[in-house]
Amino acid sequence: MGMEKLPWRFLIHCIWLGVMGVDDSSWTAEVPSSVSGLQGSCIVIPCSFNYPDPEKKPSELIGIWFKDKYEIIYHTDSSSTIADYRSRTKLVGDLWQKNCSLRIDPLHPSDKGPFTFRIEIKEYNKASYKDDRVSIAVSSSPDLPSLSVMKKEVKVAEEVSASCSVSHSCPSDPPLITWSHSGTPSIQSQQQTNGQWEETSTLTFRSSIADNNQPLVCTAAYRGGKTVSSSNTINVTCKWTTPVC
Ligand SMILES: *[C@@H]1O[C@H](CO)[C@@H](O)[C@H](O)[C@H]1NC(C)=O
Ligand SMILES: *[C@@H]1O[C@H](CO)[C@@H](O)[C@H](O)[C@H]1NC(C)=O
Repeated sequence: MGMEKLPWRFLIHCIWLGVMGVDDSSWTAEVPSSVSGLQGSCIVIPCSFNYPDPEKKPSELIGIWFKDKYEIIYHTDSSSTIADYRSRTKLVGDLWQKNCSLRIDPLHPSDKGPFTFRIEIKEYNKASYKDDRVSIAVSSSPDLPSLSVMKKEVKVAEEVSASCSVSHSCPSDPPLITWSHSGTPSIQSQQQTNGQWEETSTLTFRSSIADNNQPLVCTAAYRGGKTVSSSNTINVTCKWTTPVC
């Protein structure tokens, strides 16, 4: 490659950056095309939006979420929201941070959408982000917890470690995970993609002979009252040095 080619490449790079720069501040929104949620529990639709910067800071932002035929399911002015949604929708995102995340609580089977976000910027402009609509897949029962036991065959007094995880869509009220065996579990919460979260409880205890052949059960109680359980059996064998068993 000759030196005389370099300025061209540089110029093309600048044009490309310029185009990307314009893209950066245009009327676009980012939402998953679908979010799964459990009937009776809550759901948070992750949403962010953008607009070309106005010359002066706008005095007011009005956020609206609607479904077909402009039925308003959320409005900054709640009196404009249709009755069925008025007490159930809340904008958990901050519009000034270009965050339009919406919570629906509790989720009804009919909340399928698709839903569209709209921003109205006082003394500037307004837009509905019609290309970025979100649907909700409402399920009537949660999936079973995934339960894993590190070691299913242990000697008496050896440590047993088990972890139980469930996915959910309600970060403000995650499922409560409980165990059939005593012990102090440690809880971890992790954000997944598309509005899903994973809640994991890890229980560690020292086995006793009474645990032999007993099911180890973890139960997840979801917001709204649904519960699901998974179970696994552990085998505890005697150490030859222990005369009791
Ligand atoms: C938008 O707001 C929600 C709720 O406060 C938050 O969980 C999320 O991280 C925010 N998204 C971005 C891109 O900042
Ligand atoms: C556990 O013990 C029972 C008998 O006490 C036996 O039948 C079973 O195969 C054992 N399970 C494992 C995983 O070793």
